[in-house]
Amino acid sequence: MPITPPSPTPGHAGLFVAFEGGDGAGKSTQAGLLRSALEAIGREVVLTREPGGTELGAAIRQVLLHGDHVAPRAEALLFAADRAHHVATVVRPALDRGAVVLTDRYLDSSIAYQGQARALSQDDIRDISLWATEGLLPDLTVLLDVSAGEGRSRRAGVHDRLEREADAFHEAVREGFLLLAEREPGRYLVLDAATEPVVLHQAVCRELATRHPGLSALVPVGDERAPRPACRSRAADPAGGEAS
Ligand code: TYD
Repeated sequence: MPITPPSPTPGHAGLFVAFEGGDGAGKSTQAGLLRSALEAIGREVVLTREPGGTELGAAIRQVLLHGDHVAPRAEALLFAADRAHHVATVVRPALDRGAVVLTDRYLDSSIAYQGQARALSQDDIRDISLWATEGLLPDLTVLLDVSAGEGRSRRAGVHDRLEREADAFHEAVREGFLLLAEREPGRYLVLDAATEPVVLHQAVCRELATRHPGLSALVPVGDERAPRPACRSRAADPAGGEAS
């Protein structure tokens, strides 16, 4: 279903970076590496996640991921409720005081999982989250692209209700993320999650240093022009790239 690009984010003093991707993509690893790199150059960093970045969010996370069946629309509203409280009490205050906020998942996860994979309207899902967050969008979204098969083998087991979904669900999630990145390439860095974590980290640092001259110290002098790791496009990987 087509999705209308959202309107611009209201300004803030800090920097907001979201890590997105299917289950098993390695988002937490990359967010942690970036936090260390930013702290090493003297920036205040708030590393957080959705769902569950607040006390209320932890309760919502428990119900969403470790409880019984949740009807798709209730699931969408619970993720949005978690996001509303997270943004109001953690993300916006940090951005307003000039911190760098790194979040492990944000609004695009709702569009990919609830919009694309649960086949709810992507426009509705996006609008609910934009209402919940008063229009806050990341300055940069790092999408770690992973196929369903790769994600499954990297997760090594099932840990929650969403991970139990079939590969077709996870391929729809992947498709949802890639479509979002295709529509607004300026807000995304899309990387192949199968690449070595240290190489992915270098690519994230280079992207931030290029976009934000104040962060140029993230990249050692001489490394600015190093090659970027390959990113698979859907066209190059029509079968979804099942891991062998
Ligand atoms: P995550 O915390 O990344 O899982 P884990 O820590 O076990 O790797 O995400 C939890 C699950 O919630 C994941 O399957 C994706 C799903 N999710 C949605 O379906 N919609 C959303 O809006 C968000 C934020 C997450």
